[in-house]
Amino acid sequence: MSYQEYKNRLSKIADIAYTIALQGWDQETYMPEKGAEFRAQQTATLSGIVHGMATNAELGKILEELNKNSGSLSEKEKRNALRSLKDYNKQKKYTTEFVELLSRTTSECFQAWQKAKKASDFSIYVPSLTKMVDLKRKEADLLGYEGHPYNAMLDQYEPDAKVADLDILFKDVREQLVAFVKDIEGAKQNEDAFMYKHYPKEKQWEFGLELLKQMNYDFEAGRQDISMHPFTTSFSPQDVRVTTKILEDNLKSMIWSCIHEGGHGLYEQGLPASEYGLPSGEAISLGIHESQSRLWENNVGRGLSFWKANYKKLQSYYPENLKDVTLDQFYKGMNLVKPSLVRIEADELTYHFHILIRYEIEKALMEGKIKVSELSEYWNARYKEYLGVKVTSDAEGVLQDVHWSHGSIGYFPTYSLGSFYAAQFFSKAKEEVKDLEKKIEAGDLLPLLQWLREKIHKHGKFYSAEELCKTVTGEKLNFKYFMDYAKHKYSSIYNLKQVMVK
Ligand code: CO
Repeated sequence: MSYQEYKNRLSKIADIAYTIALQGWDQETYMPEKGAEFRAQQTATLSGIVHGMATNAELGKILEELNKNSGSLSEKEKRNALRSLKDYNKQKKYTTEFVELLSRTTSECFQAWQKAKKASDFSIYVPSLTKMVDLKRKEADLLGYEGHPYNAMLDQYEPDAKVADLDILFKDVREQLVAFVKDIEGAKQNEDAFMYKHYPKEKQWEFGLELLKQMNYDFEAGRQDISMHPFTTSFSPQDVRVTTKILEDNLKSMIWSCIHEGGHGLYEQGLPASEYGLPSGEAISLGIHESQSRLWENNVGRGLSFWKANYKKLQSYYPENLKDVTLDQFYKGMNLVKPSLVRIEADELTYHFHILIRYEIEKALMEGKIKVSELSEYWNARYKEYLGVKVTSDAEGVLQDVHWSHGSIGYFPTYSLGSFYAAQFFSKAKEEVKDLEKKIEAGDLLPLLQWLREKIHKHGKFYSAEELCKTVTGEKLNFKYFMDYAKHKYSSIYNLKQVMVK
């Protein structure tokens, strides 16, 4: 059995998987309403085919043998073969009955969530979410885990992530970030009303494209469209699509989604096409993926240097709205820190309290420490404690996110991991890319992209997240980098006196 044969099989699996992704992209962008029914059928058929191929007994044999006789393989090939065998064995643990039950429960749960959210009544959601949580606890047993059952859930989105490490990270969030946000709340507050004037969408669209071009997103290997929820999807590194959302009464929505998805897109475009279908041609994890979007969105896009390069242009698009808003006011306005109820509208600091709360809840659910029926109350108490806000409706509280209805437990922490990795990577980039901030000020983002390509993108999944972080920055993920970044930036924005951090 040869490596080539393994490669061919994985390439074929990828062909189908990317075709499913293409259907998904179409569904979110251009598919007419009536297309939904047969589209669901087409996707289900292809999903069945791809599952069959990924769990095919012959593939299992090829993988076993390849791993047994791996002496002649390169290090990269060895790692690919081992990762694929692990994935294969994991897939095999799912019985057809379990997959079907999960699929049925997901449909039921999603419908109940929609209904409950519309009525802002959590009790409607309780029976099916209870079923989902029970099923997820069974899934953890079926997959097996060391330590905490939540580890089995995390592993699906962030391979090798462990409760033991995340507990340390989120303890830092709870202790350091909560206190820092309190300091900010005590300072003189800034204004962002200008963000909510009328911003016609054609010009927003044009400005967004200019931002993507400046980021060196390759339009010959991608395109941008509009969708309800912005996302990035890829059919190969040579066809990576991003979407954005434009609100005429909120300039932030387009700017942040454009840069954020652009960051995801650059990662996908930077993966090696020669490794198509193989682990070495894939992203490492959701956390690392999110580190790429957030590095561009937060560390670059919400920075002063970036707007020194772009604010005049933006003003020229909307002279009436922005002629009296200075660069300094614009910068402070778009970096407003203010605890709020809804995660996706949160600023880059209080955002992590939203994740902290979901992390604590998911862990407790997996342990069986809290019941689904107690969630609304538990949620509201945590929002009061960490964010100081009173939740007045379930729709804006415990029902705000769709993830649990999809069975995605263990997903939320990857958002915070993304920001923390981003801060650590960006700190390293500043050391290694000569005059990085000056280049950003001049609108020259290529040196940063080249650094990311070289250090992160081109390796695909050769490294694990932890290995990558150590290789790129010299140490494993450390919350200190995010906290330093936050203190440095926001102490200046809010004129806080502070002990100087490096
Ligand atoms: Co993202």
